[in-house]
Amino acid sequence: MTGSNIPGFYKLNLEERRELLKKFSDLTEEEISLLRNMGGLGENLADHMIENVISVMEIPIGIAVNFLINGKDYLIPMAIEEPSVVAAASNAAKMARVKGGFKAVSSDPIMIGQIEISGMNDPFGAKFRILEKKKELIEIANKQDPVLVKLGGGAKDIDVRVLDEKEPMVVVHLLVDVRDAMGANAVNTMAEALAPHISQISKGKVRLRILSNLATYRIARAYAIYDKETIGGEEAVNGIIEAYKFATLDPYRATTHNKGIMNGIDAVLVATANDWRAIEAGAHAYAALNGYTSITKWEKNEDGDLVGSIEIPMAVGIVGGATASHPKAKLMRKILRVDSAKEFSNVLASVGLAQNFAAIRALAMEGIQKGHMELHARNVAISAGAIGSEIDKVAEEMIKRKAIRGDIALEILNGIRNKS
Ligand code: MEV
Repeated sequence: MTGSNIPGFYKLNLEERRELLKKFSDLTEEEISLLRNMGGLGENLADHMIENVISVMEIPIGIAVNFLINGKDYLIPMAIEEPSVVAAASNAAKMARVKGGFKAVSSDPIMIGQIEISGMNDPFGAKFRILEKKKELIEIANKQDPVLVKLGGGAKDIDVRVLDEKEPMVVVHLLVDVRDAMGANAVNTMAEALAPHISQISKGKVRLRILSNLATYRIARAYAIYDKETIGGEEAVNGIIEAYKFATLDPYRATTHNKGIMNGIDAVLVATANDWRAIEAGAHAYAALNGYTSITKWEKNEDGDLVGSIEIPMAVGIVGGATASHPKAKLMRKILRVDSAKEFSNVLASVGLAQNFAAIRALAMEGIQKGHMELHARNVAISAGAIGSEIDKVAEEMIKRKAIRGDIALEILNGIRNKS
């Protein structure tokens, strides 16, 4: 066997797929045993979750502590491979507590389904014909999901946008309240059901029918006041505001600034098996609506304290999809103690704000590398082969020497082993 064209790979069981990989990539028996470790998910569940499964990928779950959001305490699970994110979030949340923690509010969970139409003669005429039938179209959409409607959700409105009048392209936006779900399935089903009707009314050809990840109606907002003295005085306040200004003036910086925000949000999304790609796409597109800029805002109040806020589309669910089928994701939600997608959105927005605060405070003051590298040192030690108590010993010695590198780690490790 030489090629990657393997007919029926999907029909094989996990062990057969691993056997194939063993030959293709020259894997050892020890490596195959590593693949056999299926963690808490187990072979059966994993094999039904996606296609061509061979194993699972473990990422540590850490708990961010100190979060007080709308007066309620949260312990927040974060699944992430990057050191320092959990510690930074916890530290930022601790400082926010001094002035009452985070206040957060999320809009109703309204998602947009897009139905694209082209080929009609009169795009604006089509727009008005569709709007005239709005009530009937909403009724048809709602017939697709009586359970959602019973819960108070369902299709609520229709909007029509003409994207091109010369070579007509029109898009219908179906606005759906998806309640506690992420909503992709409900919205896509409704959009597909409406397609033939829209085609007939518009006298055009319907092609794409899909949810938009730019969830501009489903926005999570959080804000926090950081006590000036707690965070390092006026210098820290001014430094953070300057870092924010930098992000508003320069997309190169805004990208990294926003990456820091998403470090925290994504980690919670991964821990709860939410579609983090959807939130990532939505967050950056939202930040780019008027030219790419910061997702957060930082300013000073009349007391000289720092005021931070965040507004971000948040299409997350606590029911449906992998959030319901993945045993550990369900457990994470129990740990989180959130009762609705709205409450979960509040938590995520607060985590994003905290993460951004921690990053830009460190950057504006001591620089990020000190804290980062200290935590990174443990990973370097592990990569060099350190195990158990050796990990901290090697890391500490590298930090002392101010040299956090693989070759140094190896040298220290050999020294420790030779001694014992
Ligand atoms: C690293 O993962 C995230 C930061 O680069 C974010 C930032 O620069 O604001 C530290």
